[in-house]
Amino acid sequence: MKKILVTGGAGYIGSHTVVELAQAGFEPVIIDDFRNSKESVLSGLRDILGRDVPFHRIDCGDAEALRGVLRAEGNIEGVIHFAAFKAVGESVQKPLAYFRNNVGSLLTLLEVLPEFGVENLVFSSSCTVYGNPDALPVRETTPTKPASSPYGRTKQMCEDIIHDAAGAPGNRLHSILLRYFNPIGAHASARIGELPLGVPNNLIPFVTQTAAGLREKLTIFGNDYDTPDGTNIRDYIHVVDLAKAHIAAVQRLLDRTAPEVVETFNVGTGHGNTVLEVVQTFERATGQKVNYSIGPRRPGDVPAIYADATKVAEVLGFKTETSLADSLASAWKWQLSLAK
Ligand code: WQD
Repeated sequence: MKKILVTGGAGYIGSHTVVELAQAGFEPVIIDDFRNSKESVLSGLRDILGRDVPFHRIDCGDAEALRGVLRAEGNIEGVIHFAAFKAVGESVQKPLAYFRNNVGSLLTLLEVLPEFGVENLVFSSSCTVYGNPDALPVRETTPTKPASSPYGRTKQMCEDIIHDAAGAPGNRLHSILLRYFNPIGAHASARIGELPLGVPNNLIPFVTQTAAGLREKLTIFGNDYDTPDGTNIRDYIHVVDLAKAHIAAVQRLLDRTAPEVVETFNVGTGHGNTVLEVVQTFERATGQKVNYSIGPRRPGDVPAIYADATKVAEVLGFKTETSLADSLASAWKWQLSLAK
């Protein structure tokens, strides 16, 4: 079984990817320091997979600790690098912490991996690198715009760093950058899902917590945008679908079929939905009412963004399978499981 190191493997997308890796016949090895996740994720993974997943509690930015893991594990064939901070608003408050963690951990990885002959890296990027695009849907070739937050800037910088590192003479790094759109939902078992700490920033956990009575009401951030119902448009992708894109990326790196040392893919459904459509679809799919009101725009929100998913379909053979309604139903099932 090929060993794949998953940094941030106890996180939201990381944990779902660990399941898909294991079920595709790889041996995932998790590193995580639980700074933005919980240890209970490991028991959720055990319930789903019927065995423990190898795990090391280290900070991915700690080079010596990382060397220790790579030495102890041996034969790591590739790395999927999720470990990073991801809250847009918090990044405005604590920009240096974001640069230190997100850029720092990538630099550490890129310095340490060659010492152990590890040449394959899948990187968690984000549609946030496009900024506010001029034309929709966005293609991988759509020029990036200035990011609206330090968080977004860390993703742009990390992409640039990977390009430079892979392009340096004698470098053996091969990398795939996956630009995620808006991941939502949870594993069908409801044993793992999104675990926002404190008040959620993202739409779907706010919706499910409101439906569950944990929040009084959802505020929809603006209904005066130039969209069909005035609310923002996003491309919501089920987290298990998104996880599967990582398996295709790892396989492509291992097969060495890519014509370039760094490839970039949008990972979205290719469809946009407004915030109101999401709320209405949630209500239909779950039978739950969501108390909401319209508030002011949230600074930094782009009016609309969704993926052109042609390249990921043609090159990685990846297509999303889960509808918006089913994705939202899985988020609700997860919310209910948290209350137990
Ligand atoms: C979705 C829509 C809000 C909360 C961010 C990052 C992105 C990615 C995912 C992550 C927007 C609206 C939200 C609420 C609302 N990266 N909304 N009321 O901003 O599209 O993307 O998270 O790690 O890089 O930028 O996601 O879920 O915050 O918002 O009306 O209480 O829901 O305005 O239109 P976003 P989101």
